[in-house]
Amino acid sequence: MASYPYANDVPIHRGLPESGTPRGELLAQLEMMATTEDAAWEQGGCSGTMYCGDHDHYDFLNEAFAKFSHVNVLQRDMCPSATKFEAEIIAMTLDLLGGSGIPTAGGLVTSGGTGSITHAMLAYREANTERTRRPNVIKPETAHPAFSKACHLFGIEVIEAPVDPVTTQVDLDFVARAITSDTVALIGSACNYGYGTVDPITELGQLALQHEIGLHVDGCLGGFILPFGRARGEDIPAFDLSVPGVTTISADTHKYGYALKGTSVLLFADTQLRNSQYFFQTGWSGGKYCSPGMDGSRSGGLLAATWAAMVSLGRSGYAAYADRIFDTAAAMRAAVLEHGSLRLMGNPTFLFSFTADAFDVYHVNDFLRTRGWRLNGQQYPNALHMAVTRPQTQPGVVERWRTDLADAVAYATSKAGEPAQSSAIYGGVAGGLTEDAAIFIEAVMAEMMDAHMAIPGAIA
Ligand SMILES: Cc1ncc(COP(=O)(O)O)c(C=O)c1O
Repeated sequence: MASYPYANDVPIHRGLPESGTPRGELLAQLEMMATTEDAAWEQGGCSGTMYCGDHDHYDFLNEAFAKFSHVNVLQRDMCPSATKFEAEIIAMTLDLLGGSGIPTAGGLVTSGGTGSITHAMLAYREANTERTRRPNVIKPETAHPAFSKACHLFGIEVIEAPVDPVTTQVDLDFVARAITSDTVALIGSACNYGYGTVDPITELGQLALQHEIGLHVDGCLGGFILPFGRARGEDIPAFDLSVPGVTTISADTHKYGYALKGTSVLLFADTQLRNSQYFFQTGWSGGKYCSPGMDGSRSGGLLAATWAAMVSLGRSGYAAYADRIFDTAAAMRAAVLEHGSLRLMGNPTFLFSFTADAFDVYHVNDFLRTRGWRLNGQQYPNALHMAVTRPQTQPGVVERWRTDLADAVAYATSKAGEPAQSSAIYGGVAGGLTEDAAIFIEAVMAEMMDAHMAIPGAIA
């Protein structure tokens, strides 16, 4: 397994150092680590995660962040600006996602996609306590694991609906049959993480209305880019709050909203649903406590930076970025379709996924890794996805993709029947796999735990 990161270049601290280290020395260490790590995505080889990829933009956001980084949003009286930022982030997102004409609509700014999904699931449980003590939600198999995590935490049963293997969209007949008197919400993705495809939200909305239950649309990944794709005529079905039956939608500002990591927006068609998960403890000796979500203290800096990202780009800025991304995704997909041995999954958007029948598509990844590409791996079936972001829109990246993919397919064809090195690990594709995947994952988890707990000597 990997050795201790930067062990040769940066001192290891297994306890709080006795005396302080000069700031200049520390900043040099940080600069070295950041520069090394940025090199992994700056050339455009990395799928997803670095959505903006523009250091000038990051510098601007960091400046905005710095002005409020020490501010705790929970102390509202001290920072009216935070109320302005948060309200306007929500209003701008409502405007983008079909909610500005809904007088009851509102939202929450959360810590990320998982935060938004978790708050939504909690709200559905809390709003339905009189109706059921055994709530369930129905989610497509392709919906993000954050739903299962939230439901695990809150005692909500998850009914998993299969997806059509060709379109990768949720099986509506299954969903219709699975709804019970304990169902509090349906879930659809716009778009899902694995394939970049959009579930039939209009039809899910009809089911939700018919049964008087909620419908959460997971727009964590697509919320800030799909509206611009629709506007330019991409084949993307309606998915936002304007669709009858949609009661909540999540959209991550820290993805295609081009804000700093650590924020997302959760929108509610009716603030009553949002308020159902507010927390109040009025009898505490420390004073009356109330919080609008699960977090306590929150960073004023992140609200300021998110607001600054949205206002500085504006609709035209987002649209221009989206144009380049959709064009690039189409060109990269066309390169995939040049190979009869590769097959695209479903009708993708800015994120596309492909598999192969004649060989394990992870051989393609094994080769692409040697050329600096970092794709995301899926399973059942094995597939690779590329979430196209701004770094791929740089000149030369599509051409490199076409050449490297052709060489990778030739390599994979020569390896047909042999086991590949890569395997599906969320967020990337692990390489050098020599053991059973379960053992590998256990080892990764153990290493992460060691790192988190900083057990002296536990990592070399
Ligand atoms: C569709 C979708 N939903 C939810 C999430 C979770 O977001 P986060 O990692 O910000 O918690 C992701 C992350 O990639 C996603 O792609």
